[in-house]
Amino acid sequence: MFDVEKIRQDFPILSDTVHGRRMAYLDSAATAHKPQAVIDAELDFYKHYNSNVHRGVHHLSELATTRYEAVREDVREFIHATSLKEIIFTSGTTSAINTVAQSFAAAFIQPGDEIIISAMEHHANIVPWQMVCERYGAVLKVIEINELGELDLTSFEKLLTAKTKLIAIAHVSNVLGTINPVKTIIDKAHAQDVPVLLDGAQSIVHQNIDVQELGCDFFVFSGHKLYGPTGVGVLYGKEKWLERMPPVFGGGDMIETVSFEKTQYADLPQKFESGTPNIAGVIALGAAVNYMKNIDISLAAAHEAQLLRLATEQLEDFGVQLIGQAEKKVSVISFVVPGVHAQDVSMVLDQQGVAVRTGHHCAMPLMAKFKVSATLRASFVLYSNIEDVEQLMAGMQSVRRLLM
Ligand code: ALA
Repeated sequence: MFDVEKIRQDFPILSDTVHGRRMAYLDSAATAHKPQAVIDAELDFYKHYNSNVHRGVHHLSELATTRYEAVREDVREFIHATSLKEIIFTSGTTSAINTVAQSFAAAFIQPGDEIIISAMEHHANIVPWQMVCERYGAVLKVIEINELGELDLTSFEKLLTAKTKLIAIAHVSNVLGTINPVKTIIDKAHAQDVPVLLDGAQSIVHQNIDVQELGCDFFVFSGHKLYGPTGVGVLYGKEKWLERMPPVFGGGDMIETVSFEKTQYADLPQKFESGTPNIAGVIALGAAVNYMKNIDISLAAAHEAQLLRLATEQLEDFGVQLIGQAEKKVSVISFVVPGVHAQDVSMVLDQQGVAVRTGHHCAMPLMAKFKVSATLRASFVLYSNIEDVEQLMAGMQSVRRLLM
C-alpha cells in the first residue's frame, strides 16, 4: 500500500503554513520539496567533509571524491545506464541540453542539416537548438501536436528524412503532462541512424527510467524536480556519441595534460565536467536518488493518477478550460478560467495557501498553439494528497466568489 501520510513526514516543509493556512503545494513540477535525507546530506558535506574533488590526497578530499563518485554509480543504476562514462553531472537540464547541442553540432552538424523538436517543448529544448541552427546553418523542424496535446506521429514521419541529424523531444510535457510515445520515435529514428535526446526533466519524477530499454541516445534531467537540490543535473549520453563529441567548456579537471602547444582532454565522463563541480549538490542528489530507490514508483504513480483524476473531474465541473487532455499523461493539469486572468486566479489561490504555477511555463510556442497567453498549472507528486485537491477546489470557490 502507498502510505502518503508517512511519505509526507519525510518532507519538513510540508508542515509549514502559508498565510496562516495549511500548505497545498501544487507547484512541484517547477521544483519539488526535499526530504530530510537530502537536506541532511548537503549539510553533512559542509559540516564534515567540505573539500574539493579529484584534486587532493588529503583525507577530506578523498572522502569528498569517493562520495561524489559514488553518486555517479547511484545515478547510473537509477537510470540503468551501462557505464559510469555515460553519466555526466551538469548544473541542470538546461545546461545538459546546451552541452549536447553545442558539442553535437560542433562534431556533426553541417549547413542544411535538420534537427527535429516538437511543438510542446520547454524553451530549454528549443532555444539551444535555434542557437545551433543559426550558427551552423541548420534547420529546425517541429513535430505538430493535436488538440488534445498529443504528438502527431504522421507529422513526425514526414519530417524524418535523410537530412535529419538529431531529434530532441520532451519525454513528458511540463505544461500538458503528456507522456510522449518516445519508444516509437526512437525506433523510427534509429532505423535511419538518427540519435534521439529525451528531455526527462518531468518524466524522471513519475516513472522508472531505463535508458537501455528506451534506447535513447541522450537523457537529461535536473536534481531539483526529483526531490534533490537546485543547481545540479545529469546528462546521460551513450558512450559511442560522447566519445566522438568535443568538450564544450575547457578548464581544470577535464584534461589529461596541458601544454601551450596541445591539450589532451580527459576521458569520459571528466571530459565534460570542467571546473569545481557542485559537489554538495551532487552528494545531495545522491540522497534524492537513494530516497527514490526506496519508493515503489508504480504505487506512487497510481497514487498520483488518482489525484489527477479527482482534480481533473472537479476542475471540469467547475468550468475551467483544460489545456492538454492526452490519453497518456502524468499528474500535471494546465487550465484557464474563462474570462479571468491566470495571475488573478493564482493570487486568490495563494491567499488560501494553494501554490500553483502561472504563466507561459517556458513554453511560449505551445501557449500560442492553444491560443492562450498563460495557464494555471497544478502538479501532483508522491507527497501530494487528497486534502491538496480539496484545498485547491475550496480556493477555486473563492475565485468564483471574488472574480467571476
Ligand atoms: N521547467 C519548470 C516548470 O515547468 C520550471 O515549471
